[in-house]
Amino acid sequence: MLWLKALHIVSMVTWFAGLFYLPRLFVYHALAQDELSQERFKVMERKLFWGIMTPGAVLTTVFGLWLWLGFGFSGGWLHAKLALVAALVAYHVWCGKLMFDLRAGRNTRSHVWLRWFNEFPLVVLFGAVFLVVFKPA
Ligand code: HEM
Repeated sequence: MLWLKALHIVSMVTWFAGLFYLPRLFVYHALAQDELSQERFKVMERKLFWGIMTPGAVLTTVFGLWLWLGFGFSGGWLHAKLALVAALVAYHVWCGKLMFDLRAGRNTRSHVWLRWFNEFPLVVLFGAVFLVVFKPA
């Protein structure tokens, strides 16, 4: 089980690397005026989303479900954590939509809105880690 938990945590860190950096790229992309910068951001966003963030999300979920269903974990903490994870998956998908909108030149979100959007994963990280470490219920 410890191998699974270690792989779960490594995958989670990989996922969060993308969740923290991709929306930041969106902020700079939304501010960029010149074609060269916009093309560069499109490449960076695509590689980060498909090469790091999405594999991290899939592996975090696979190892997490394996831990949960394979070792009989239960409790209110896990239900609360899964609710946060569901919100994080929705956020991940929303990032995908924003990436496609920016690539197609149809983004309507300002850089200020994107900066606030960028803060959400931090809230989930605090919530999920404190729930799984302290298991309050
Ligand atoms: C479908 C998604 C997930 C499931 C089913 C899941 C389930 C689990 C389970 C059953 C454990 C073992 C708990 C223990 O050994 O006490 C665990 C550990 C852990 N999970 Fe998740 N998890 C998921 C996603 C996440 C996410 C998104 C994060 C981070 C935000 C996260 C952070 C952690 C951490 C830090 C541990 C180690 C806790 C410890 O060693 O005390 N997990 N997870």
